Amino acid sequence: MTPTTRKKILLGTLAAIIAMQFFQPALNIHSHPTHTAIEKHFDVPADVQQILKTSCYDCHSNNTQYPWYFKLQPLGWWLDHHIEEGKEHLNFDEFATYTADKQKHKLEEVVETIQRHEMPLKSYTLVHRDAQLNSTQQQQLIKWAQQLQQRL
Ligand code: HEC
Repeated sequence: MTPTTRKKILLGTLAAIIAMQFFQPALNIHSHPTHTAIEKHFDVPADVQQILKTSCYDCHSNNTQYPWYFKLQPLGWWLDHHIEEGKEHLNFDEFATYTADKQKHKLEEVVETIQRHEMPLKSYTLVHRDAQLNSTQQQQLIKWAQQLQQRL
């Protein structure tokens, strides 16, 4: 590779990275109160709510607490994709709109994904250390989801 080619590639890459910054994803922030939120309709103890907020709500609610790197593309796009996909599978702020069957099924999945250490996503807890669940928190969430599921 000649020095000119190398310079062209470098400049091209830089231009592409700069261009990416003009495409900022829309924010998942809803200021209006959510009447369909799980805690408005079902029993969610304060400690469980706190764990859900810290470890799950960035991708499974209508309000994401955005990290600084969200403004840096393509990192923001990547997180945005997780939020879109996460909400599509399970949105705690819209839990009351689900049918009883779906609610039960989602709570079952909460138990399963935690038992299998699939949630919260590893790529997320790598940066968001406080979102990582310790075994006490895992047990708290599992017990809550199982009990709520039985009551539905
Ligand atoms: C960084 C984003 C992110 C965080 C944080 C996160 N999730 Fe997820 N979650 C996803 C994505 C994306 C999917 C869908 C794809 C998949 O299953 O990997 C998903 C899927 C799920 C599903 C499966 C639903 C289905 O229909 O299969 C459950 C249940 C779930 N998450 C629960 C949780 C719980 C509980 C927490 C917190 C302890 C959590 N998630 C934290 C992104 C996230």
